[in-house]
Amino acid sequence: MTAPFLVARDIAKRFGALTALSGVNLEIRTGEVLALLGDNGAGKSTFIKVLAGAHKQSDGELIIEGRPVAFASPKDAATAGIATIFQELALSENLSIAENVFLGRELKRPILGIPFLKRQEMRARVETLLKELDAHISDPEAPVGSLSGGQRQAVAICRALNLNAKLVIMDEPTAALAVAETRKVLQLTRRLAERGCAVVLISHNIAEVFEVADRMVVFRRGRKVAERNRAETTPEEIVSLITGAHPDVQALEKTN
Ligand SMILES: Nc1ncnc2c1ncn2[C@@H]1O[C@H](COP(=O)(O)OP(=O)(O)OP(=O)(O)O)[C@@H](O)[C@H]1O
Ligand SMILES: [Mg+2]
Repeated sequence: MTAPFLVARDIAKRFGALTALSGVNLEIRTGEVLALLGDNGAGKSTFIKVLAGAHKQSDGELIIEGRPVAFASPKDAATAGIATIFQELALSENLSIAENVFLGRELKRPILGIPFLKRQEMRARVETLLKELDAHISDPEAPVGSLSGGQRQAVAICRALNLNAKLVIMDEPTAALAVAETRKVLQLTRRLAERGCAVVLISHNIAEVFEVADRMVVFRRGRKVAERNRAETTPEEIVSLITGAHPDVQALEKTN
C-alpha cells in the first residue's frame, strides 16, 4: 500500500470552553474515497476546516506526504494541494463556467505590457476537464447561473482539478440534489479517486456512502469512534456507530 497523502495526528480543536474535536488520528490515502460520518455537531465540518486551513487546530499535527505542515490560511492548504468544496460552492452566478474554473488564477498574456486574458486556452482547458469528468456540459462559456445543482458541483470539481488538487474535500455535495444529479455527482467523486486524487466526502446519506466510499470514519462528540473498510461493514453497523448503540462506542465512552 502507498504512503498516505495526509496524516492527521492527535488533532484537537477547542472553541473557548467547547471541545469540538479531540485526539483525532486519521490517514487519507490517494486514490481512495473516504467518507466522514457522524451526527449533527459530531465535528466533521470542524475537522475538514482544519484540513482546509480555515481553522488552526488547538493540538496535534498534520503531515502531508511525510512532512509536517502548518496552515495559516486556506491559501496555504490550497498550495499544499488541498481543495475544499463547501456546500455553498462559492461560484459566481454571472460568470461563465470557464471564468469560474479560472477565477483568481486567469491565464494572461502581456501585449505591449498590458495583460490580456488567454480566453481560447482557458476555454480549451475547461472543455478537456469537463470531458474527462464526463460532466455532460457542452459550453464552457455558459453562465453558471443557468446550470443545475449537479452541474454546479461539476464546475466546482473542475475548479479543484484545475488547481491540481491532490486531496478534494466535499461537504455534503448531494444534500440539495435530485436523484439523477446525485448519481452524477457520485460518479464524479469516483472519477476523482480514479484520477489519483484522495477524496474526503461528508454525507448523512448512508446508502450513498456505501455506494462510493472505500473507507468510512465515524465521528461522535468530537472523537473518531470507528473506522471501517466498506467490505467489512454494513449500513446497520454504521448507523449503530453513529448513534452510539454499538458496543465498541459504549465501551469507548465508558472509559472517557
Ligand atoms: N466557529 C465555531 N465556534 C464555536 N463553536 C463551533 C464553531 N464551529 C463549530 N462549533 C461547534 O463544534 C461542534 C462541532 O461542529 P461541526 O460543525 O464540526 O459538526 P458537524 O459534524 O459538521 O455537524 P453537521 O452534521 O450538523 O454539519 C458543535 O458543537 C459546534 O457547535
Ligand atoms: Mg457540518
